Amino acid sequence: MAQYVAAIDQGTTSTRCMIFDHSGNVVSADQREHEQIFPRAGWVEHDPQEIWRNTREVCAGALAKADLVTDDVIAVGITNQRETAVVWDRTTGEPVYNAIVWQDTRTDKIVDELARQGGGQNRYHATTGLPLATYFSGPKVKWILDNVEGAREKAEAGDLVFGNMDTWVLWNATGGTDGGVHVTDPTNASRTLLMDLDTLTWNEQNAADMGIPMSMLPEIRSSSEVYGHVRARGAFAGLPLAGILGDQQAATFGQACLEVGEAKNTYGTGNFVLLNTGTEKVMSENGLLTTVCYKIGDNETIYALEGSIAVTGSLVQWMRDNLGIISSAPEIEQLADSVDDNGGVYFVPAFSGLFAPYWRSDARGAIVGLTRYVNKGHLAHAVLQATAFQSLEVIEAMNADSGVPLKSLKVDGGMVGNELLMQFQADILGVPVIRPVVAETTALGAAYAAGLAVGFWETEEDIRTNWAQDKQWDPQMDQDERDKQYRRWKKAVTKTFDWVD
Ligand code: G3P
Repeated sequence: MAQYVAAIDQGTTSTRCMIFDHSGNVVSADQREHEQIFPRAGWVEHDPQEIWRNTREVCAGALAKADLVTDDVIAVGITNQRETAVVWDRTTGEPVYNAIVWQDTRTDKIVDELARQGGGQNRYHATTGLPLATYFSGPKVKWILDNVEGAREKAEAGDLVFGNMDTWVLWNATGGTDGGVHVTDPTNASRTLLMDLDTLTWNEQNAADMGIPMSMLPEIRSSSEVYGHVRARGAFAGLPLAGILGDQQAATFGQACLEVGEAKNTYGTGNFVLLNTGTEKVMSENGLLTTVCYKIGDNETIYALEGSIAVTGSLVQWMRDNLGIISSAPEIEQLADSVDDNGGVYFVPAFSGLFAPYWRSDARGAIVGLTRYVNKGHLAHAVLQATAFQSLEVIEAMNADSGVPLKSLKVDGGMVGNELLMQFQADILGVPVIRPVVAETTALGAAYAAGLAVGFWETEEDIRTNWAQDKQWDPQMDQDERDKQYRRWKKAVTKTFDWVD
């Protein structure tokens, strides 16, 4: 009998396949990085075909690594980098342009123009829970239709379709031009500026404003149900594809943040804090997003407040790849450990403008507080602290919106192995930081969504039972020091404003 569930995690820097057992433990994993394409300053693209090739390889790889076969697996879930947009030809299966990545800022003029036409930055806030910003998919699709020769005509003739990476992977996995299903879930759709948060349906007016034909949009289904079956060849052939959750919502689910008031912070390319607000859609007054947290089958929709931070882990990668100060990402901790503190330096990585709680596309990165005293160890501290300060800012906004201060923070993702960062995070937040045994909560959340759909897990309570704590960091910094550091950080942030005309 099949004893495992698989999850495909199509992330910003890599694609992974992980296989889990009934207790939520990782049985096998395989991973491939894909190229980050930077055609111009502020532009970030991925090759969708490379990503689909990698997806197939990691699925086969995960099975092979644990000596498993397709029959050992009962269902497959998908989780993905959100907002990243692909437009492809439904007849040939060819993308008309590279995927435009969530970090890409090329749509700033489109976004400004939409705001100017009426309603300003909050034009779509009431319907979608989002501010107008380059981050979201709708304006990216408009850019492709406006700029790729012949794309608009083809789209209007019904030949082109749009999808986020979940939809692209699912369409290909279920057969592509040979009967692939064109479907998404509400967690992904809620990141497009095109979905109505109350009804979970596409908003025709928003699509019309952006010149996007309705025929391009995937069908919105729940986050946990059988959408189709894997095509007849390759790994997982014939298995049900039964769960879709955007990666941050998947991590929230995998962290068992299933009750109102429970929150997690994922430390990935960026950082994303999500607070479960239950069936209530809380509209932020402090720069956070209102988003769908999950919708399991026919159950009621669960919403979340989200603090999205564009650049955290990718700042460490930038230190490695663009400056060469470290040769691997984990080395940052060692380098920071060579000195006691940040030496007065603050690094605000506004590489894609600033996301929550500021939403300023005119901001660009800044390192402030430099003196002749400063060395690369201090810079390493400033890089790690940037992640913690940015997390503090969105958690403060969350406390203000919900009126109930967070008592502790569950953490997951790549950087949570970094002791120095975790301690500093607890210090600067003033609340305990808690890491679970299975820190791969993103893939796990998608596996849970798929496993619930096919009866491998029976209820969401199974998720809570499986969750276990690995380590807790308690705050040790005194209040005066915390206040001083945070004041300086806030001052540093103001130095990044008004940089782009
Ligand atoms: O909204 C973007 C987010 O989904 C990307 O997550 O983990 O790929 O950096 P990640």
